[in-house]
Amino acid sequence: MVVSNRVPVPSDSGSPAAGGLAVALNAALQQRGGFWFGWSGNVSEEETPLQVHDFGRVSYAVTDLSQRDIDEYYAGFANRALWPVCHYRLDLTEISANDTAGYFRVNEFFARRLATLLKPDDVIWIHDYHFIPLAAYLRQMGFENRMGFFLHIPWAPYDVSSALPAYQTVLSGLTRYDVVGFQTRRDVENFTRCLEQEKMARDLGDGRWEADGRVFKVDAFPIGIETDLFRQEAREAKSNSLVRRMRASMEDKHLIIGVDRLDYSKGIRQRIEAFACMLERFPNMRNKVTFLQITPKSRSEVPEYLKMQHEVAEQAGWTNGKFGDVDWTPVRYINKAVSRTSLAGLYRSARVGMVTPLRDGMNLVAKEYVASQRGTDPGVLVLSRFAGAAEELDSALLVNPYDTEATANAIVRALEMSLEERKERWKAMMARLRSNTVDHWCANFMAVLTQEQSCALPKGAE
Ligand code: G6P
Repeated sequence: MVVSNRVPVPSDSGSPAAGGLAVALNAALQQRGGFWFGWSGNVSEEETPLQVHDFGRVSYAVTDLSQRDIDEYYAGFANRALWPVCHYRLDLTEISANDTAGYFRVNEFFARRLATLLKPDDVIWIHDYHFIPLAAYLRQMGFENRMGFFLHIPWAPYDVSSALPAYQTVLSGLTRYDVVGFQTRRDVENFTRCLEQEKMARDLGDGRWEADGRVFKVDAFPIGIETDLFRQEAREAKSNSLVRRMRASMEDKHLIIGVDRLDYSKGIRQRIEAFACMLERFPNMRNKVTFLQITPKSRSEVPEYLKMQHEVAEQAGWTNGKFGDVDWTPVRYINKAVSRTSLAGLYRSARVGMVTPLRDGMNLVAKEYVASQRGTDPGVLVLSRFAGAAEELDSALLVNPYDTEATANAIVRALEMSLEERKERWKAMMARLRSNTVDHWCANFMAVLTQEQSCALPKGAE
C-alpha cells in the first residue's frame, strides 16, 4: 500500500505518470502489484465515497478534500510551514494555529479512509511531508502493519526544524513507523540529532532507535531514476518535434538548460543572476550561448510562491533587456510543462545542465541530465552543493548557488571544458547512476521494511 498526497491516476490509455516521485513509485508498484492511496486533486464539499480505479496490477484509491481542508492542510501547514522549514527557510515560514490543526485533522481523515482498505498483512509505505502523522493515527486505531515512511525533501538541523509549529508532535509521529527513510546521510544526522535533543528515542546502534517500547530503523535511501530507460528515451528523442524545433532555433549556439518547478528552493532567480553575471564578465560569451529555463508554475495559491514568480520573471526580463539583441534572446524562460521524452532530448542537446537549488532533497533532474548525455560528447552538470544529489554526483562541477560570481565562473568552466575531462566526469557519474537506480531504491527500502525484526522490544531489553 503506497500512500502519497499526489496520486497520478493514469488516463484510460494507461499512460505512465510524469514527475520524479510518481515515476519512481509507479515503477515499484507495477512490479509488485498493490494499492496507491491519496488525494484525488479535487475539491468536494460533501464527503464523497473513495474513488477506486483499477489498472492491471495496480489499483488507485483517491479521496476528495474540502476547500478548507486543502487551504489548511496542503496550501497551509504542508507548504507554508513544513516545506520552508525543511528547506531551511525560516524567513518564509508562516505559522498559523488553524493550519496546524487542519494538517492533523486531515491526516486523521486520511487514516480513517485508508483503514477501510487495509488488510492485516499489508505493508504500508507512506511518502513525504504531507503525511508525517499518518502512522500515529493508524497505530491509535489498532493497526500493527509494517509501516515505512520516506521523506523526499531534506530534514533541517535541530535549530531550524525545532521552529516548526507542533514540532514535538511531528517528530514523535515519525517514531510510530517501523522504518524512517531520508535521501542523504546529512538528513539522517539532522533527524537523529533532533531525537536526541528532545530525548524522544534511545539510540540502539546500527540505525535502530527505540521510543515507547517500539524499535524503528532510520537510514538514508537515496532515490534514483530508471537510468537505462531514460537514456533510451534521450536517444530516441531526436525525432521528437519539440526537440527538433529547439535544435533548429539554436543555430551554432551552445545550450544551457535548467528544469524546475517554479519553487523558491530551486534557486532559479539566483541562477539567472549568475548567468547574467557570466555575460557581464565574459563578453566573448555573448551571442554564443542560450539559457533555456523550463519552469512549470507550482503552488500559486501559496503567497510566497506568487511573490517569487514575479521576481524570477523580472530577473529573466532584466537579463534579456540588458544583454539581448535583435537576433539573440539570452534567456528563454518558459512556464509550461514539457513531456518526459522532450525533456530527455533537450537535456541531450544541452552542453551544460544547471541544477543549482538552494536546498533540495535529491533532485532527479541532475540524474536525468547525466543519464541523457552522449558518452562520446557529454555535457557538463553544474550542481549545487546543497542538492542531495551532490553526495553521489561529486564529479559534477559543484557550486555554492548563493555565490553568484563562483557560479558564473563554473558556467564558463563548463562551456570551455575539454572533451577528455567531460568524459571522465560523466563516466564517474554514470557509474553511480547505474549502481543506484530507482529499482535499487525501492528494493532496498522494501527489504528493510519487510525484514526488520518485529517492532516490540524483546523482554529485558529496556
Ligand atoms: C516535491 C514533493 C512532492 C510533491 C511535488 C510537487 O517533489 O516532494 O511530494 O508532490 O514536489 O508538488 P505539489 O505541491 O504540486 O504536489
